[in-house]
Amino acid sequence: MNVLLVGNGAREHAIAEALARSPRHPALLAFMKANNPGIAALSHKTAIGAYSDFSSVLKLAKEADFAVIGPEDPLEAGIVDFLEENGVPCFGPKRDLAQLETSKSFTRELFRKYKIPGAPKFRVCFTEDEARDFLEELGGDYVVKADGLMGGKGVKLSGEHLHSTAEALAYARDCIKKHGRVVVEEKLVGEEFSIMAFCDGRTVKDSQPSQDHKRAFDGDKGPNTGGMGSYSTGRLLPFLTEADLAEAHDIAVRTCHALREQVGEEYKGVMYGGFMATKGGVKLVEFNARFGDPEVMNVLPLMQSDFVEVCQAVIDGDLEDADLRFSENASVCKYIVPEGYPDSPVKGERIEVPPAPKARVYYASVDQRPEGLFMSSSRALAFVGIAPTLKEAERIAQSDLSKVKGRVHYRSDIGTQALVNKRIAHMRQLRGQ
Ligand code: AMP
Ligand code: GLY
Repeated sequence: MNVLLVGNGAREHAIAEALARSPRHPALLAFMKANNPGIAALSHKTAIGAYSDFSSVLKLAKEADFAVIGPEDPLEAGIVDFLEENGVPCFGPKRDLAQLETSKSFTRELFRKYKIPGAPKFRVCFTEDEARDFLEELGGDYVVKADGLMGGKGVKLSGEHLHSTAEALAYARDCIKKHGRVVVEEKLVGEEFSIMAFCDGRTVKDSQPSQDHKRAFDGDKGPNTGGMGSYSTGRLLPFLTEADLAEAHDIAVRTCHALREQVGEEYKGVMYGGFMATKGGVKLVEFNARFGDPEVMNVLPLMQSDFVEVCQAVIDGDLEDADLRFSENASVCKYIVPEGYPDSPVKGERIEVPPAPKARVYYASVDQRPEGLFMSSSRALAFVGIAPTLKEAERIAQSDLSKVKGRVHYRSDIGTQALVNKRIAHMRQLRGQ
């Protein structure tokens, strides 16, 4: 059996590893933007090109039984529609369904139309006057969101990025100019968590929750990044309750059905919910139409069932009967990034990576050349510790990653009890416990 994988980040390295572990021993065909040495080592064939070059993707895909699409940009460009028209079934939603991620207004309006719980107060504004009115209604706490894929940089929060109504309006104006509209919403207060759910268009099955760390520096300081690391403690995160998980699941199930109704097609792939536990219950911050990066590294390495079978079940609409099990172990993922990331990263620096005796290492933005391994300007390598306790998982990730030599930076606090305790205390305070 042949499986095509599109993408070349650490997320896709983790996907490639999960596919390769299948007892069916699929031959991996990898279509990458740049050569990821981790994925290349697991692949039978590779091709390098732009994700927008669909005909080159199809050349490789012709031999595939199915394709797994890693990143969001090819989903937005309609790669699934194209491959399926050409006879290649895909794990990943078609373009109209991927609006779940690519359009904030689409998803918020879907929640309103289908009465899905969990949305903050919001308004899709087409003029500056509408935005001004709604900002006034919300008082001082608001979020202004660009209505398109912005690589994680389109969301601005009051008090953090926006310090006055004038600044909020100026940003709203920019967004309207660019996308014709802007989403303004209530600022939620709580603890964020991620759940990646598998969806075949009718059935939704969750993987275990994890928590990402977006800020660049220890103590959640500094600018937002693509995600510096994440942890999971098995079925439940320490600051969540079973009721929170059930609420998040219910939101995902209702969204799956609403999408089918609205678009007239079945959503096949991952619905990755970015949720917030608040004093008023679980809210949806955003949905993504793909696996989370870094969170996928807390999930796929722990999958005990056959990932190829899970993908096949999603594609065939058989998820209800599919086996989907994960180990209960804790996991901690920490990224090595270039010094200065994300605002002014050093570029093209060589790093030395001694063997990691215990951690799993996933390659992201690195270039393997004959003379060594070089970073680009983005997240470079992810180290993942997996163990029965969070403490041990953190120790494994930290001890192996701290041996990397070069102009690198990472967060030491991700997965530490001290940081987790802060989350627990914050949630207790919000819940009045
Ligand atoms: P998004 O791209 O929608 O996930 O937004 C990026 C980040 O902005 C989220 O991970 C949250 O930390 C924050 N954010 C987005 N929407 C809200 C909201 N309504 N209230 C509070 N924080 C938010
Ligand atoms: N963890 C952030 C993302 O994958 O978008």
